[in-house]
Amino acid sequence: MIILKKLFITLFFLVCFHGQLIGATERKAAIASAHTLATYAGFEILQQGGNAFDAAVAVSAALAVVEPAGSGLGGGGFWLLHRASDGFETMIDGREKAPLAAHREMYLDKRGEVIKDLSINGALSAGIPGLPAALVHLSEQYGKLSLAQSLQPAIRYAQQGFVIGERHRKLLKFRLPVLMNNPQAASIFLDNNKVPNEKSVLQQTDLANTLKQLAQYGINGFYTGDVANKLINSVRKAGGIWTLQDLENYQIVERDPVIGEYNGIKITSAAPPSSGGIVLIEALNILSGYNLSKLDEITRKHIISEAMRRAYHDRAFYLGDSDFVDVPIYRLINQDYAAGLRTSIRLDKATPSDSLAGDVEQKSRGRNTTHFSIMDKEGNRVAATLSVNFPFGSAFVAEGTGVLLNDEMDDFVSKSGVMNGYGLVGGAANAIESGKRMLSSMTPTFIEDETRVAVLGTPGGSRIISMVLLAVLDFAEGEGPDYWLWTPRFHHQYIPDMIQYEEGGMTDEEILGLSRLGHKLKETLYRYGNMQAIQFNKKSKQLTVASDPRGEGLALVR
Ligand code: GLY
Repeated sequence: MIILKKLFITLFFLVCFHGQLIGATERKAAIASAHTLATYAGFEILQQGGNAFDAAVAVSAALAVVEPAGSGLGGGGFWLLHRASDGFETMIDGREKAPLAAHREMYLDKRGEVIKDLSINGALSAGIPGLPAALVHLSEQYGKLSLAQSLQPAIRYAQQGFVIGERHRKLLKFRLPVLMNNPQAASIFLDNNKVPNEKSVLQQTDLANTLKQLAQYGINGFYTGDVANKLINSVRKAGGIWTLQDLENYQIVERDPVIGEYNGIKITSAAPPSSGGIVLIEALNILSGYNLSKLDEITRKHIISEAMRRAYHDRAFYLGDSDFVDVPIYRLINQDYAAGLRTSIRLDKATPSDSLAGDVEQKSRGRNTTHFSIMDKEGNRVAATLSVNFPFGSAFVAEGTGVLLNDEMDDFVSKSGVMNGYGLVGGAANAIESGKRMLSSMTPTFIEDETRVAVLGTPGGSRIISMVLLAVLDFAEGEGPDYWLWTPRFHHQYIPDMIQYEEGGMTDEEILGLSRLGHKLKETLYRYGNMQAIQFNKKSKQLTVASDPRGEGLALVR
């Protein structure tokens, strides 16, 4: 009787919960992006039979419309891809390039001094955009759907308009005087030269038409023909130096990602012209010599800051566009090199930055740029960080195109030893040259161990790399995306020689302890970053997602 009862119960559970059990093990898709509509655009395309790469086209294009402060057709970015069928991984480098007529002195006056804001505002500050070419390539080489299909949600958002959010309004305020200088930008983004009211609807008819040209003619819809002519006429009329040849010549490059390993975790991240992967892996290599979880919190933060200091120091000296300068990638991410750096770290004392060889400074902040992460049901993955540099880029819209141009030229070194708009200077490796890509900090990243794989990245200027570093360390401690995103952050970037931390990022005791070791500390004026993260548990098949609480994004599993 008892045996029969047990059998009955077993059958009951098998029949009643069969669907749920399948549901629990069936793979789903996940998207995390900085805007609700961009996340929806990605799912719309997945539902139409697209894969993660089609969804990445849809999300990138949607962000260009609904988050113009962060990225756009007039900008560029890096798309890190993982193809599930064969494990192939690549990075699509759609970074902007210096125009052919660009040269080292282009932002200097007759006395050789940097002309304030020339590399930040207006047509002369814009590099040749890479985002449209990258979307065409992503769709044609890796997607299942047509480019036109994947661009549809973005075209609809541009045509029908969308309600602007608080973040959009804040960033408009930040760039208001510059936006007012450009009648095209002002007519699209402002309301009688003022920041539009809450709940205003932003419609972008010209941008919708440019997206349609891209959808219909692919690469030629942007880089030649009507749109290209409008871009060139407008840029040159405003003192820019672009030519049709610049646009016709633009090509994306597929690059091998930079790969590293930290305590059994595989790190796959951005290659030059981004500094992200190298700085991240160099810092992790230094940290791999310590048992961080066994250290008290003051020593732990001290050691992490010292690793950041050394990796950011090397960023300033060695990194630039590897098509132009010899970047010693494999030396910088080598464990022996990290072991050498580790010997210079003292547990009882901070290392003054000016005692490290050289004298260059680093970008200090950034509310610009955007990141999204995607994983589809097949396990294809995309980590993409895209940018127009400053919020709303150069604040210059090319007439009749709706395309807001980047001011990514400011990521070059205008003059050795002189800070750029964000307080950054660098070395000769990142000097302006015709056709060269400017150094970036964007760090789209995959992290993977035996049981978990994660896709992540964030905007935030030079702090991008330290944010991803802290997330990797939290992953290594077994924490999930919510923890990485909610934990207050801290950052050291060699120069300025100080630990910057978010409100709540340091206890009084830690501030005192780190000061005693010789660190200068400063609380940031605002909380920074807008990380978008996905984690997949290989055993339970569970997807965990998070969108940064500092932003207005949406992370969803479906
Ligand atoms: N413009 C931001 C970056 O590329 O780092």
